[in-house]
Amino acid sequence: KTNSSSALSSSAPKAFVIGWPIEQSKSPVIHGYWLKKFDFAGSYEKIAVEPGALASFIAEMKDKGFAGGNVTIPHKQAVLAFADVVHPAAKRLQAANTLWFEDGKLHADNTDGYGFLANLDQLQPGWDSKKGGHAMVLGAGGAARPIINGLIERGFSTVTIANRTKEKAEMLAKLFTELGYDDQLQCIEWEERSEQLCDIDLLVNTSSLGMIGQPPLEISLSALPASALVTDIVYNPLETDLLRQARMRGNLVVDGLGMLLHQAVPGFEHWFGKRPTVTEALREEVLAQL
Ligand code: ATR
Repeated sequence: KTNSSSALSSSAPKAFVIGWPIEQSKSPVIHGYWLKKFDFAGSYEKIAVEPGALASFIAEMKDKGFAGGNVTIPHKQAVLAFADVVHPAAKRLQAANTLWFEDGKLHADNTDGYGFLANLDQLQPGWDSKKGGHAMVLGAGGAARPIINGLIERGFSTVTIANRTKEKAEMLAKLFTELGYDDQLQCIEWEERSEQLCDIDLLVNTSSLGMIGQPPLEISLSALPASALVTDIVYNPLETDLLRQARMRGNLVVDGLGMLLHQAVPGFEHWFGKRPTVTEALREEVLAQL
């Protein structure tokens, strides 16, 4: 079957990020940086897709010459129904953020947990060397899921979730129990977050608190062991109050920008055929555009 598109478009892979709204997405900055760095002819574009238009967008993406793309809110769950192959992380989390064609089939995966872990691996090598650690996760929204999943897969024996709405934390814990992670999750009251830090090896903020325009995250780290690592998914500001407080008392800290950058790596490799790296120069490029 011949393709009516030009030789240029067939030799230059195209990818997208779809969402509704989509203006806020930083993904074009990341992929644009790598495309330029490798001097690739490929392209990466933001496309606003309304919830009701997802099915037709997916049905047409191949004919439009797309090698795949990223998927963000509100399509992360709905897109699973259109994939031929749903990879394990996406299946477990019931959400995908990366799509690509392989052998004529549409694949879907979730790279957020990978991005979270790869950022810690890069910036604090050996952070997970203690076996059977105890993590505390603040927040129980969409961002908490892949992080909790990643932590358990890395061998943390206990993950304590503290969320303002405890019922949401309990629903999340139940979901992981159903996936076979027995007894590894526990939920505490939001008000107990500071006092329960005394045996924590890793503290992660997955809530929106501390982000520019949001209320601050109020927490006292005085009970936290000096050996604990503290990280935040908020990257604007890059150093949140949580991270500054942790750094000032001598804890190791990792900011959230790297998670955003690393989650983009597998997609780029699928669409454009080269595995990119997360460098200081990329961090600066994205920071300049926050
Ligand atoms: P997403 O799915 O994108 O992560 P979300 O579901 O709105 O977004 O989650 C945001 C997280 O920040 C939630 O854990 C939320 O707590 P609730 O489940 O109680 O809503 C948390 N959060 C937001 N504003 C908060 C606040 N003022 N105090 C405490 N937690 C807050």
